[in-house]
Amino acid sequence: MNLTITRPDDWHLHLRDGRAMADVVGATAAVFGRAVVMPNLRPPVTSVDQALDYRGRILAALPAGSVFEPLMTLYLTELTCLDEVPRARDAGFVGFKLYPAGATTNSDAGVTDFDRVAPVLEAMEACGLALLVHGEVTNPEVDIFDREKVFIDRVLAPLLRRHEGLRVVFEHVTTKDAVEFVQASSPRIGATITPQHLLLNRNDMLVGGVKPHHYCLPVLKREADRQALLAAATGADRRFFLGTDSAPHGRSTKENHCGCAGCYSAHAALALYAEVFDAAGALERLEGFASLHGADFYGLPRNRDRIRLVRDSWTVPESYPFGDDVVVPLRAGEEITWRVERVE
Ligand code: DOR
Ligand code: ZN
Repeated sequence: MNLTITRPDDWHLHLRDGRAMADVVGATAAVFGRAVVMPNLRPPVTSVDQALDYRGRILAALPAGSVFEPLMTLYLTELTCLDEVPRARDAGFVGFKLYPAGATTNSDAGVTDFDRVAPVLEAMEACGLALLVHGEVTNPEVDIFDREKVFIDRVLAPLLRRHEGLRVVFEHVTTKDAVEFVQASSPRIGATITPQHLLLNRNDMLVGGVKPHHYCLPVLKREADRQALLAAATGADRRFFLGTDSAPHGRSTKENHCGCAGCYSAHAALALYAEVFDAAGALERLEGFASLHGADFYGLPRNRDRIRLVRDSWTVPESYPFGDDVVVPLRAGEEITWRVERVE
């Protein structure tokens, strides 16, 4: 069984930096035409100049012969200058990433008071740049499984009312609430969905021993939430598209008394999505989700080349090199039923 589709893009990716980046970027570039690169480095990528330097390092780390375009984002802070917005547009960046302060890996410089970023959001709206949102509140009294829902009510809905023309991507949606919120919103609201949130629920992280490599943020939710995500990804609504949130961490920082959040999926991302769509009897919808909806949402041309998926099992390695450490990928040591082939 084969499936040939337009080359996909990854609309949410963490590449890290330095040698670790060089170890993972090729996996994405081998399959995806473009990827939206997250700016949560240490220190965060907050200026156009920093992002252009980072882009140069990504291009330099690509394996020879790669045809891959990193799409850059800037990290929004309460100190972001208004001038940076038109500069980001002129540099061809896709938007700004909003991390509520403390929500996830390297998010300390994120936003605490959303009123303080309103002028920058107005400038983004005027320049046609998108706001990419990590949709979780960080208030300690809010239960971690409710943080996405509370974010919708307290932050996202008011923000969308205040900035009526702003294009917003609700990144890595994890709940039925988020799916329904996007479906009830205007077409200027899109959402990415990760492979792990389509494949796994919180039992897969917590039953029979804690599975640190299934721990990511927003955390895996209930089966009913996974079912809602699956219906959205495989349905006809063009506002849902592929964003892996592949977030590699060294094994020692995941298998740790205070383990880092993030699942590494770049080694097999498209194959994992194909498995999900296949199991749902919706393989014919994969191309829209993986290759068309995201480009259309961002107003970018669709890729013109194609890739082929083949139903053919392979065993995922236990780990891949990752700088001074190794990274344990999703499905480590287990089988995946699809693999990707080049189409010449
Ligand atoms: O699990 C996650 N890992 N969620 C995020 O939002 C950030 C990411 C990372 O950078 O490791
Ligand atoms: Zn992310």
